[in-house]
Amino acid sequence: MTLLLRSLALQPTPRRPLWLMRQAGRYLPEYRKVREKSGGFLAMAKTPELACEITLQPVRRFGLDAAIIFSDILTIPDALGLQLRFAEGEGPKLNNPLRAENDVAKFCARAESGGLDLEYVCAACRLAAAALPAEIPLIGFCGSPWTLACYMIDGEGGGFWRARAMRYSRPDLLHSILQTNARAAAESLCGQMQAGCKVAMIFDSWGGLLGEDYEEFSLRYIRETVAAVKAKCKTPVIVFSRQCAAHLAQTAKCGCDAVGVDWQIPLSRAREITGGKIALQGNMDPATLLADKKAVQQEALKILRDYGNAPGHIFNLGHGVDKNTPPENIQTLAETVRSHILP
Ligand code: CP3
Repeated sequence: MTLLLRSLALQPTPRRPLWLMRQAGRYLPEYRKVREKSGGFLAMAKTPELACEITLQPVRRFGLDAAIIFSDILTIPDALGLQLRFAEGEGPKLNNPLRAENDVAKFCARAESGGLDLEYVCAACRLAAAALPAEIPLIGFCGSPWTLACYMIDGEGGGFWRARAMRYSRPDLLHSILQTNARAAAESLCGQMQAGCKVAMIFDSWGGLLGEDYEEFSLRYIRETVAAVKAKCKTPVIVFSRQCAAHLAQTAKCGCDAVGVDWQIPLSRAREITGGKIALQGNMDPATLLADKKAVQQEALKILRDYGNAPGHIFNLGHGVDKNTPPENIQTLAETVRSHILP
């Protein structure tokens, strides 16, 4: 079994597996080169050969222990008719956000009748899974039902005020969007698993906006997604709910195999909360990678030592790699984690 799968199963490993959220991207010169030639992010994501090439870039360069398929969480709203675009220098935007009751009714009906066509994502997964060596598993992913709803309702990032308000003004509408998203997320993950991914990951980047409503509007639908994936594909599932340290105990019980932890709490505390019953992924502050070599080494060692020698740690960041990260710092991180041998 690969290092990552062993850690996910809480089995001992000779050293900690390492991969990074957003390990492919603009900080890599080889990524920028492909991006220039292809005409932008969406063109790359929708061309399986390019998506495969970009997936492999960071693994080749740094010798990481997993690859994550190059795609985006917003492929689901795009496939369900909301039309994703990336304006130059801006974040993602959806042309047809869900604002009125009628938009939501049409959206849910379309999702139920038409299914989800994300064949280009599956094609990229097949290529990448075939190109990777056996010891490097491919991770497939999707956004959580709530995080997808944030973009679907507001149409763009920047506070998600409409989505947050809808849970007070029209919780019924929000619940129908979330229910539809849970089915679409599971379908998308299962498609990626059937196309060769060995691990599924759910990104709940905006779970932290919900406060005490996290269970009702996010975790409940993550639980449904995890159960649907487990019923069909049996692959391990990682759940990353950002800024949700307060809900770690509940998240750890949602049926997943690992939780992603951000840098709000030390991993040792996260382990106390979760009782060692589940693997933990994280949790270096990505800003560390904008500092110097020494800081990267020190922080990496601090995290490795803080977790201790127990099995079940997957080294990662607490959020994605920043676009201004010098690639040499990731090289330093990879060397530090690789040379930390467990007794
Ligand atoms: O991790 C990986 O290397 C795989 C690829 C991946 C991307 N997006 C590629 C991408 C993954 C796992 C995602 C997930 C994603 N996308 C999330 C959840 C994780 C998180 O970061 O919180 C979210 C919220 C999105 C939505 C999204 N896509 C935003 C907000 C942006 C703009 C941010 C930015 O950096 O410009 C994107 C675009 C995007 N997705 C880029 C990449 C590499 C940058 C595209 C480019 O301009 O080249």
